[in-house]
This record gives sequence, structure tokens and C-alpha cells, in this order.
Amino acid sequence: MFVDTHSHIYSEEFSSDRNEVIARAIKAGVNKIILPNIDSSTIKPMLDLTDSDPQLFIPLLGLHPTSVKEDFRQELEIMEYWFGKRKFAGIGEIGIDLYWDKTFINEQIETFRIQIGWAKRGRIPIVIHVRDSFYEVIEVLQQEKNESLTGVFHSFTGTAEHAAQVIDLGFKIGIGGIVTFKNSGLDSIVQHIDLQNILLETDSPWLAPVPHRGRRNESAFITAVAAKIASLHETSIEEVARITTQNAQQLFGF
Ligand code: NI
Repeated sequence: MFVDTHSHIYSEEFSSDRNEVIARAIKAGVNKIILPNIDSSTIKPMLDLTDSDPQLFIPLLGLHPTSVKEDFRQELEIMEYWFGKRKFAGIGEIGIDLYWDKTFINEQIETFRIQIGWAKRGRIPIVIHVRDSFYEVIEVLQQEKNESLTGVFHSFTGTAEHAAQVIDLGFKIGIGGIVTFKNSGLDSIVQHIDLQNILLETDSPWLAPVPHRGRRNESAFITAVAAKIASLHETSIEEVARITTQNAQQLFGF
């Protein structure tokens, strides 16, 4: 049984065939799908999907760093409203993205800090989006760290030293389709990361693993990620599934 710890299956990319995608996920052995939020516009589709199958879907709440603009305070107010109204297994996805646009770097850092505060208050994990911002994210985490703060570096693409820093901080490493890409270099790093520190994810609809690379991603393809990790660790897919599922259960508390 697999947990897809990162899927945006509530998004429009799946509007024409979402039920088929869900059926394929279940058939592939996925029994939990964790849904990270993006901004105020995605909360309703995410919660509607969750309510359609509360056993399968686990929603998170957060403002994605690429959605941090002039109106970030209003966005955060909407999140706070929902945080008081519904149960969320974590805060995400949150973080810093300096790849697309650096205009709002200060707002991104402030928004990240505020949302880490919510996670600490609720004693729930954070799902972190890092893009060209590893040191900025680590700096914030070192300042904000307390005994309860934990989470995952989603779609990890760093070096072995980065992985060691993440694990030292008590965080997990989210691995998805990139590990199957030729020349990503991630395979040789994942090979040396203890399975106890790894979470499986797809980041659907993005980052489909080989042999689906370049197409829309979906939770069923998590088996290709698990197979790659199993071969890197010279173990079985079942063992990868067992340990990473346990990691996800411990982190998100289900
Ligand atoms: Ni995402």
C-alpha cells in the first residue's frame, strides 16, 4: 500500500476524468492521497474532493510561495478562517521560491514564518516547497525550530549535504518522479538516504516519472517511483511501500 504524500488532483487538469484517475490510483495500491493547498481559490475544490472520500484524501492548508503577492495578508486571513473551521493534517505547501520571481522575496519569507507559526500552534507538520532557495529555507527553519516543528522537503532535488541538513533538522525528504529522470543526479543521492527518511510523492499533475515523463502525472504512477527507489536500495517495492507508508503515517498522524 502506498501513500501519495503530494498530489494536486483537485486541480482543473483532472476535471474531465478525475474518477478514472482515482480508480487507477486505488488499483495501483494507493490508499491515501495527501492534498497540499495552493491559495484561496483551491481551498473549495480541495475540500469538496476530500468530502467525496474522507478515507482516501487528507487535506493540508497553506499559501504556496509562488502565490505570495501584494494581497498575501488577505490570503492568509482566508487560510486562518479555514484553519479554525476544519481539520488539516498539516500546513502546506509553503516555503520560498526564487526561481520564478524574486519580487516578493520578503513577503515570501514573512508568509513562510507566519505559517510555520500555525504549524507550531497546531502541532502539525509543514510541507515545504523549495526552489533555488535552500539556504533561505534552512535559515528560517533554524530560527523557527522548536520541539514540535517537523515536516517534509517536498520534491527534494538537493545535494547529499542538503539531505543531511534536512534530516538533522528532523525533516523528511519527499521523492517523486525526478528520481527516475536520466541525468537528474538524484538517484545517487537517494541511494544513500535511509528509507526511514523518505516519503513518496507524485506532485500530480507535474513531474511524471519515466516512462510517463512529459505527460500529466497521477497517483498511480507512484509505483514507478517506488520501483526506482527499491532498485537503488536493492530491496523490494513492498519494503519501500511499507517503510514510506509508515513514515507518512507518523508524520501526518493518520
Ligand atoms: Ni505541489
